[in-house]
Amino acid sequence: MKKLHLFSLGLLSMSSLIISSCNDNKTTTATMETKTGITKAAFGETDGKEVFLYTLTNAKGTQVKITNYGGIVTSWVAADKDGKTSSIVLGFDSLSGYLAKPPYFGALIGRYGNRIAKGKFKLDSTEYTLATNNDANHLHGGNKGFDKVVWESSTSSDSTAVLVLSYTSKDMEEGYPGNLKVDVTYTLTDDDELKIEYNATTDKKTVLNLTNHSYFNLTGDVSNSVLDHNLTIDADRYTPVDKGLIPTGELKAVKGGPFDFTSVHKIGERIDSVEGGYDHNFVLNKTDSSLKLIATLSEDKTGRKLEVFTMEPGVQFYSGNFLDGSIKTSAGKPINKHGGLCLETQHFPDSPNQPSFPTTTLLPGQKYHTVTVYKLSVNK
Ligand code: BGC
Repeated sequence: MKKLHLFSLGLLSMSSLIISSCNDNKTTTATMETKTGITKAAFGETDGKEVFLYTLTNAKGTQVKITNYGGIVTSWVAADKDGKTSSIVLGFDSLSGYLAKPPYFGALIGRYGNRIAKGKFKLDSTEYTLATNNDANHLHGGNKGFDKVVWESSTSSDSTAVLVLSYTSKDMEEGYPGNLKVDVTYTLTDDDELKIEYNATTDKKTVLNLTNHSYFNLTGDVSNSVLDHNLTIDADRYTPVDKGLIPTGELKAVKGGPFDFTSVHKIGERIDSVEGGYDHNFVLNKTDSSLKLIATLSEDKTGRKLEVFTMEPGVQFYSGNFLDGSIKTSAGKPINKHGGLCLETQHFPDSPNQPSFPTTTLLPGQKYHTVTVYKLSVNK
């Protein structure tokens, strides 16, 4: 029998809100009491471990749901310019949707976001072999990456809702060296920012590149493609790839071509001249590891705008090219090609094999620390 426990954790305050929800084109409106803070509910079981679904609510009534299975953001419900609420990310209502292995919807990715060529890399003179789970290459941490494990979780909500997820990846897990301790802290602020802070340490030299793989669709309805969304990325260069989507090593200027998002463009405007669609790492113009605004996504009909801030040197812009309608939402709607897009902040793909790229090596005694913020707002 499905467990339906709901645990209340540090509820801060209550307010009355008009909530309209737009799921699968049906819009319902109701007056609801919202409680800011964080609640925890049972979400199922896997690997003999209990899985929970946390709901983070801020003073505006925005709600982000996150499960400790894969650290997955399952929904992010917020109002559009007319006050209608819907989720701006792709996700499912139940754990079974995720156990069926959708393509990393909303998940934490590790140990290595994106690809490592032929699943091999060397540290000093030791060669490490990883799973080749994406044709000839290694993708997103292997067969059982951080997106498919159950994380330890703890919460706090003194002023804002905070969820801390922790995972210890054992030495040689998925072929990577070192016992790696990872903490990921999700915070939902009253300014509609979802802040993701990653911290990690290792006891042996290793490589690390953590990210979050949320698919955004600012219309809040997967039947609309994202091709009409507007995008800017603060990147004068990108990393061209070979047929297996491994960077060639070149940092190529975007100027004047379909990769030029230094000024605003619709995603669909030039996508036909990009073979396979966008699935590329952009070399951000920022020159240090401070937290900077690097991309802005917006959608005219809902007025929604999503700004991305990161400390990372790159962002993978993936236009949902491999979505093909075979995966359905919990309400049974097919998720078609370009039904969502990802802006995965990261170090560059295949960095362990590309000495000219910023390093992804982590040494014992070093602290891996990086922050990404997705900030949602509405242009009325
Ligand atoms: C990759 C794509 C991949 C997608 C889902 C993205 O980060 O770059 O090639 O298909 O993740 O797996």
